[in-house]
Amino acid sequence: MAKIVRYGIVGFGKQGSFYSMIFQKLGFLIKGAKLTAVCDVNESRRNRAKEKLKGVEIFSDYKEMFNSGLIDAVLIETPHYEHSTIAIDAFKAGINVLCDKPAGVYTSQVVKMNEESDKHPDLLFGMMFNQRTNPLYIRAKEIIESGKLGELKRIVWIITNWYRPKAYYDQGGWRGTWKGEGGGVLINQCPHQLDLFTWLAGLPVEVEAIVSTKGREIDVENDVTAMCTFENGATGVFITSTHDAPGTNRLEITGDGGKIVIEGGKLVFTENQIFEPEFNATNKVFMGKPKTKVYKYRGIGHYLRMFKNPPQHIGIIKNYTDYLLGKTDKFIAPGKEGLIGLTFSNAIHLAGWTGKKVSIPLDEALFESELKKKIKEEEENPVKK
Ligand SMILES: NC(=O)c1ccc[n+]([C@@H]2O[C@H](COP(=O)([O-])OP(=O)(O)OC[C@H]3O[C@@H](n4cnc5c(N)ncnc54)[C@H](O)[C@@H]3O)[C@@H](O)[C@H]2O)c1
Repeated sequence: MAKIVRYGIVGFGKQGSFYSMIFQKLGFLIKGAKLTAVCDVNESRRNRAKEKLKGVEIFSDYKEMFNSGLIDAVLIETPHYEHSTIAIDAFKAGINVLCDKPAGVYTSQVVKMNEESDKHPDLLFGMMFNQRTNPLYIRAKEIIESGKLGELKRIVWIITNWYRPKAYYDQGGWRGTWKGEGGGVLINQCPHQLDLFTWLAGLPVEVEAIVSTKGREIDVENDVTAMCTFENGATGVFITSTHDAPGTNRLEITGDGGKIVIEGGKLVFTENQIFEPEFNATNKVFMGKPKTKVYKYRGIGHYLRMFKNPPQHIGIIKNYTDYLLGKTDKFIAPGKEGLIGLTFSNAIHLAGWTGKKVSIPLDEALFESELKKKIKEEEENPVKK
């Protein structure tokens, strides 16, 4: 690989233009990365790109962009259904892929994407899981991997501060529809938390859920309460919505060794001085409980090292670029891991639609046939006009 990674962006909508701004205005934070091409099927978006981006080639067909010799890597910024198709075409054209979330709408398309990636071990495949750069989640992962939290007992995430008013759903035709985006809060807003939930606790083996639409004229869900079980018998709850005002963002992970809580920009780890099962086996005191030590962490030192650890999307692009250029051996968000959070997402949808407990590995064919039913119902009787 040369000293510079030349990027192309497919999809110059909200997110694609945001990344182009990062390359143009904050390029000093991602040395070795250059935006050289942009592609959009929409003429007015291409015209906007021509106006804003000097020295960047504009395409209407992403395959032409892939074969132009102008790019080494592509950022995929189209609606969700197309992510896997575009990624597969990129791999076939010898282009490295950094795909935005979600990895896809249903798991079988993502399995195909991952299989194509396997055929091209020389090409780097990453996912835009920008929340993995948040020092609080990084610290939670470190505590878990150090063994200090011990065996997992419970994980609860209430993430109801994804507030989206009617005006949000009105802005683009594909939003809020099964045909356009393949889901609501689970597939659009929550891929970050579903990724982190499974990154920290692993993939559950069983899921039950209530999935509904409240207070918005959309076809897809905007209110979810899911309950899950892990292989070791630990349990999890995942609650999300886009209509709670005010909302909550609280993650709580309990293990034999104590409890991690992330809320309000800080992580608190309450560490048991003796693991709970051991305490229980030896304690003779009526109503006794393990002694604890409390550690608080805000990640300020991490944030202060801005050039080393730029936040969020810039952090992922920097890490992807550095990894491609051999400047780091740590890769934050491998593309194939997109399948894990999506599997959990599909299982929650399926459990909500059928009202039944869903096992993982998932019945992919059943998920796809239920999704097709949703699309048909929406075509015949759309809620979102
Ligand atoms: N990581 C994050 O924090 C984050 C935040 C917002 C959105 N996203 C993701 O970014 C993606 C795009 O979302 P958005 O809000 O920018 O949508 P958008 O509708 O604003 O833009 C999508 C663009 O893709 C173009 N497009 C569609 N099919 C195409 C194709 N085959 N070839 C070229 N262009 C094509 C459309 O014309 C449009 O301009 C979604 O997957 C979304 O989930 C990620």
